[in-house]
Amino acid sequence: MTILVTGGAGFIGSNFVIDWLKQSDEAVVTLDALTYAGNLANLGALGADSRHRFVRGSIGDGVLVERLLRQNAVRAVVNFAAESHVDRSISGPAPFFETNVMGTLALLEASRAYFGTLDGAAREAFRLLHVSTDEVYGTLAPDEPAFAETTPYRPNSPYAASKAASDHLVRAYRETYGLPVLVTNCSNNYGPYQFPEKLIPLVINNALSGKALPIYGDGRQVRDWLHVADHCSAIRRVLEAGAPGATFNVGGDNQMANIEVVQLICGLLDVRRPRGDGKSYAEQVVYVADRPGHDRRYAIDARRIATELGWRPAVSFAEGLATTVDWYLANPDWVADVTSGAYRDWIARQYG
Ligand code: NAD
Ligand code: DAU
Repeated sequence: MTILVTGGAGFIGSNFVIDWLKQSDEAVVTLDALTYAGNLANLGALGADSRHRFVRGSIGDGVLVERLLRQNAVRAVVNFAAESHVDRSISGPAPFFETNVMGTLALLEASRAYFGTLDGAAREAFRLLHVSTDEVYGTLAPDEPAFAETTPYRPNSPYAASKAASDHLVRAYRETYGLPVLVTNCSNNYGPYQFPEKLIPLVINNALSGKALPIYGDGRQVRDWLHVADHCSAIRRVLEAGAPGATFNVGGDNQMANIEVVQLICGLLDVRRPRGDGKSYAEQVVYVADRPGHDRRYAIDARRIATELGWRPAVSFAEGLATTVDWYLANPDWVADVTSGAYRDWIARQYG
């Protein structure tokens, strides 16, 4: 049997593919368009593993997707492919709708056509798992209860709106065509191979390069951080045991204000790679203009996945953040590669 992983050369997708092949003999076809965020080096640990095949292409190419599904007798699709950075969606929303909405639509259409050809055990086993985000629920006040699967969608950024639209499409394909779909809505991930436009790797990279550590607004916005390995284990569990049509929230039960996260990173770097002048990296913190429409707080109520599927996060934030800092310290070449060219142009536009 084979699974098709879309967006498998990105941050979470590559961690998922590597973890999957460590734990299963089921082969993987990775389909990735290799945008600025996709990097084949993320899958380098697989070497020449014959269970893995990489195909460069878009989820928006329905003909290609349907061919891959048929040729490989795919048992499940896990859809990570997306434009994923909120700030980029504010500067230029169109690619987010092209990939996250129209791309997901094409992927669903190809999957529906393929599902229609299946019968017996293959039809029974087929699943499409769509990886989504807690941002579809909008923002929480400090005292509001965490997002549950029943919380109404109220997306506030173009990115969140595009993910919400894709979730609705996935749901509609279940209700209308009976496609056996699953959706996961996860909180902020961190860990190895995260592109250094996102808060944690950006702060590590800027700190080591002697640059400012930009904090949007007052830095008191709260995120619920989850190590990427825990997100991957949740997706595996949902794929294995989630009932078709079900949605599961995934989170780390680890709410923290951005400025606290940045201070923790500075503290870890102060010990591991002290600054030449003996001062703390925290000296590099600079408060900058806030993100427009910035969601104040995310928090996930992960009781459904815990009680129904027995999943819980295994990595504490203290351990996960320390190993993440160590990974970036040990992989300067990876950072240098991904921070060249197009990425540098983006950083120049975003931060001036
Ligand atoms: P990422 O930006 O690191 O990776 C996205 C990958 O998708 C890249 O490899 C890119 O090349 C690929 N891609 C983009 N457009 C494509 C297309 N049209 N066809 C095929 N591949 C395409 O993103 P990530 O952080 O790994 O996020 C993966 C998924 O998880 C996204 O759907 C995102 O919305 C969701 N998610 C992310 C987080 C997080 O904290 N990073 C949390 C919850 C959910
Ligand atoms: O909640 C899940 C989402 O988490 C995913 O769906 C997105 O794909 C992922 O990018 C992430 O979105 P955020 O906007 O929360 O992540 P980001 O790392 O961009 O920002 C985290 C917080 O840090 C947010 O409150 C904005 C703030 N921030 C971010 C950057 C890049 C700063 O203060 N300064 C910065 O330079």
